[in-house]
Amino acid sequence: MYVLGISCYYHDSAAAILKDGKIIAAIEEERFSRKKFDDGFPDSAIKWCLNQANILPKEISLIAFYDKPLLKFERLLDNYISVAPRGLFSFLDVIPKWIHKRLWIKDEIKKSLNGFNGKIIFPEHHLSHAAHAFFSSPFNESAVLTVDGVGEWSTTTFGIANNSEIQITNDIRWPHSLGLFYSAFTYFLGFKVNEGEYKLMGLSAYGKPVYYDLILSKLINVKDDGSIHLNMKYFAFTYDKVMTNEKFSDLFGIQPRKEGQTTEQIHYDIAASAQLVLEEVLLKMVNHVYKETKMKNLCFGGGVALNGVANYRILKDGPFEKIHIPPSPGDAGSAIGCAQYSYFCFENNKRSIESENEIVKNNIYLGTSFSNDEIETYLTTNHIKYEFLETKLLLEKTSKLISEGNVVGWFQGKMEWGPRALGNRSILADPRRAEMKDVLNEKIKHRESFRPFAPSILEEHVSEYFELDIPSPYMLLVAKIKKPEKIPAVTHVDGTGRLQSVSRDVNPLYYDLIDEFYKITDVPVIINTSMNVMGEPIVNTPEQTYSMIQKTDMDYLIMGNHLLSKAGNV
Ligand SMILES: [Fe+2]
Repeated sequence: MYVLGISCYYHDSAAAILKDGKIIAAIEEERFSRKKFDDGFPDSAIKWCLNQANILPKEISLIAFYDKPLLKFERLLDNYISVAPRGLFSFLDVIPKWIHKRLWIKDEIKKSLNGFNGKIIFPEHHLSHAAHAFFSSPFNESAVLTVDGVGEWSTTTFGIANNSEIQITNDIRWPHSLGLFYSAFTYFLGFKVNEGEYKLMGLSAYGKPVYYDLILSKLINVKDDGSIHLNMKYFAFTYDKVMTNEKFSDLFGIQPRKEGQTTEQIHYDIAASAQLVLEEVLLKMVNHVYKETKMKNLCFGGGVALNGVANYRILKDGPFEKIHIPPSPGDAGSAIGCAQYSYFCFENNKRSIESENEIVKNNIYLGTSFSNDEIETYLTTNHIKYEFLETKLLLEKTSKLISEGNVVGWFQGKMEWGPRALGNRSILADPRRAEMKDVLNEKIKHRESFRPFAPSILEEHVSEYFELDIPSPYMLLVAKIKKPEKIPAVTHVDGTGRLQSVSRDVNPLYYDLIDEFYKITDVPVIINTSMNVMGEPIVNTPEQTYSMIQKTDMDYLIMGNHLLSKAGNV
């Protein structure tokens, strides 16, 4: 039985296809359209998914869309009525998009999938998040917590999941949203909402939470059970295109920072304060969820679960024995989530749980791939110089190049699902060299200087280098580094790193590469940053990958078993 899942029209459109409950393929539309965070209908992603499953639209049994558009529309109308006459400009901008497009999603799906005759179902937004969090986990039963901006009405939900059932028992509703609270600070500090939240997290390490009490006394009322109430006098997102108003600015004594303006101590301190509030609220929430559900495990989903610093606090200071966060807990991930909900909960199919490493592998490597033959055809057709190396030699040479201070592109196997490159569409460098952060920024990434680069580490060495004793395969935990002097280029200003632990069972080639680097350097860690230039999505095709070495100062590029060099000296 084939089930297709679709998420779109808000942020990060994506499609996924399941066969008998197993994910065959999943990809974000941006990887095809080349529009970062593309929110349009994921036509290319859908077509590619069907192609991977080798089926026609008529062979799909069920299509799931990741939320209920009518309920969302009702919430929007209700909101505009309650804030009127404020909100007129926002109303005139938003409502036509709904009337002309978003409410007609069923027609759009049928148009894209000519010949499909099955049912289309619309699980609620947070149910889609919850389903992806639970059905991508190794747990047979678990508490489920989802926290994001807003779905239809809910902004936070929790409940219990068991085999193929999910029961949401509690929620917090619009406009009282922890996700939008954090996004308001993201906006106020000069970053794009829904995109720059991780920049706010990076910035927070430079500050002191001196505004913590002020925020709790004026902006957000937090109860012991973690439920929240925002003081809407300070927020503008219910009636304007911006997130905060003049009162909010007055509270901190500064105007919202504009994109590109310099960051100052006050920005760092505000970021640190907002981050701490987020962590403390989440801790209260998980304590309450633990008490109410009496479960040992927690599955955590929704966009807020991308906050690796908060995730680490939940793990370290929270009550749950085990925590699972899927590699794409945000809205893109819900393309898989709504399909999983349909297959397991709606169709009532039993779930079988594989080994943990098998689950990790099936959760990550779900995207496009190109064989050595396809890469070679591209290179020879375009008269591009390369050296073909057998795998053993390739690993020895690549690890040596990295250890000598080169920046190396690494394009292998299936593309990763989710926002992080996890060893298949990555740029790699030496973490022992403190200057590598600046080198990477100068040569390729051109990112804000306050943002750290992330480490990939052999799984067996995690607790030797980090204050962490479990794997972190999806790069969603930011943990304290025990040996910062050994890996200065991936040590953030507060002594932490957002690590990816690499197991040989999950990605043997990437594991062996880091292992080779370990043999030469005695350090089982490398820098891993995604293969893209600023403002563009992660590369998809050999052509886009080759353009990386043309457009940037990347020293070497490895595509499959082919080695290319910027200097043309291979
Ligand atoms: Fe969401």
